[in-house]
Amino acid sequence: MLGAGGQLGTQLVRLLGTETAVPHAQLSITDAGAVSSLIDARRPDVVFNCAAYNAVDRAEVERDLAFAVNAHGPKNIAVACRRTGASLVHFSTNFVFDGNSVEPYTEADEAIPLSVYGSTKLAGEQGVLHAGGHVLVVRTAAVYGGPQSFPMRILARARAGEALRVVSDQRVNPTSAEDLAGAAVELAEQGIAGIVHAVAEGCCGWDELARAVLAETGAEVEVESVPKSGYPAAARRPLNGCLASTRFRPLRPWREALHELLNP
Ligand SMILES: NC(=O)c1ccc[n+]([C@@H]2O[C@H](COP(=O)([O-])OP(=O)(O)OC[C@H]3O[C@@H](n4cnc5c(N)ncnc54)[C@H](OP(=O)(O)O)[C@@H]3O)[C@@H](O)[C@H]2O)c1
Repeated sequence: MLGAGGQLGTQLVRLLGTETAVPHAQLSITDAGAVSSLIDARRPDVVFNCAAYNAVDRAEVERDLAFAVNAHGPKNIAVACRRTGASLVHFSTNFVFDGNSVEPYTEADEAIPLSVYGSTKLAGEQGVLHAGGHVLVVRTAAVYGGPQSFPMRILARARAGEALRVVSDQRVNPTSAEDLAGAAVELAEQGIAGIVHAVAEGCCGWDELARAVLAETGAEVEVESVPKSGYPAAARRPLNGCLASTRFRPLRPWREALHELLNP
């Protein structure tokens, strides 16, 4: 598993074992020779690529790095997998869509990214799917569970007594990294190929997610809901960032998974 130190990678390592873990410090997926040598040496049946450049706003200025990690890196992996006969499970994002639809996006909808980040992830999808091997692209949204993820940052700010202003008109399916890891293993076992959406059941604004975090933890802090226009950011984001799948069941409702994470 590549990019094993991130949110999703950490959860996949828990499921698949530490011997499968290849963190960034050990290998950069942008190094085609190193990727090829590793896959030749280990001869895995399945490669999970959890490595990604996810700094959505910074990608607007670090365009080359974002493309290297999110587009060229995955292609390096897909080429090595095709050559050795390994299946590849790669991950992508709701940010490949423009968010103008009123319905959640399915696998059949046209991807029109608004940001450099979204463009790099879409290029990554296309690169791995065109490489010619057995490839599954799992698109997901608003992954949380790691210490820097949205719920944890909200909690830290609430505990520090900070006032919280949170965007209300941008909607996502908050998806637990743990649940996503389980779904990815299940999909790999089923041998499904192509693009599949895998997100928690339910969709909400970031303000609703912040309030749910506070309710789960008993933190008594007000959340002020603000429109996206009142919260300037370098990258444009889809207003409707909600995904649905025609190929896979929804994961647990987001509120249920959040409850479990915050009340272990
Ligand atoms: N997080 C979200 O909200 C979200 C939403 C939709 C889709 N996704 C997708 O879901 C997947 C998993 O995301 P995540 O939340 O687990 O991401 P994450 O926590 O940011 O982890 C990404 C991992 O990739 C590593 N990495 C970065 N550049 C690398 C390189 N050149 N070679 C090897 N490893 C590298 C990072 O290491 P360093 O820390 O050392 O850089 C980090 O360990 C990604 O494909 C992501 O795009 C995420």
